[in-house]
Amino acid sequence: MRKPLIAGNWKMNLLCSQVPAYFQTLMQSLKGKPGQRTVDILLAVPAPFLSLAREMAERDGLLIAAQTVHEKAEGAFTGEISLPMLLDLGVSWTLVGHSERRQYFNETDRSVALKARAAVERGVTPIVCVGETKDEREKSLTETVLRRQLETVLAELPRDADWVIAYEPVWAIGTGLTASDQQAQDAHAFIRQLLRQHSGEHADAMRILYGGSVKSSNAAGLFKQPDIDGALVGGASLDPLEFARIIDSMS
Ligand code: 13P
Repeated sequence: MRKPLIAGNWKMNLLCSQVPAYFQTLMQSLKGKPGQRTVDILLAVPAPFLSLAREMAERDGLLIAAQTVHEKAEGAFTGEISLPMLLDLGVSWTLVGHSERRQYFNETDRSVALKARAAVERGVTPIVCVGETKDEREKSLTETVLRRQLETVLAELPRDADWVIAYEPVWAIGTGLTASDQQAQDAHAFIRQLLRQHSGEHADAMRILYGGSVKSSNAAGLFKQPDIDGALVGGASLDPLEFARIIDSMS
């Protein structure tokens, strides 16, 4: 069975000085005790908070991820963060190819695939984000877009690679519009079928998260779907009480 993963993506929000109080409130609000948890909990925090968040997460049994990473190990790439730098901080997860990275920072299917491959090669687990825009959905191009985005990544990865996929329809991110349970399930089932073609049985062990306006009011319905293995939560993860409610609706 796949262990659910509930991930929060803080994007460019909060301050480092708020991290301790966030963790304290989150841990106090969660129903399950760390040793008895049936879900993995992850936070993708801004780079300046990685070190502190990693220390706190270790104590509380949480996972910490970067929000993006560069595929090269070192060099003249001002402002970028490398995989060895993450590992040096004890961070072994990263988001890759979030739609905001694709939209505002010109990341392409190809660059996303190279980052995912570099991460897997270094033992950092990438959460690769895919999803169609509103225009693409309206033109019935959802499956075409998912296939293109995923096949580029799959071509770079070994069949049994350790990675996670987040299906985040762009039209549902930060808009309050959530994919219906059925729309999300259909996309996830399509993704799993693509994975099966590439990775065989390993596809059944891989976690596929849903992202896009997930809240405590809609999480339970999404989590009941057979191919939805958790969530990547943006805005609602900034409030530790609300994030705890989302986590508890999966456990
Ligand atoms: P929202 O939950 O704010 O829609 O953001 C989703 C997202 O982009 C998570 O990566």
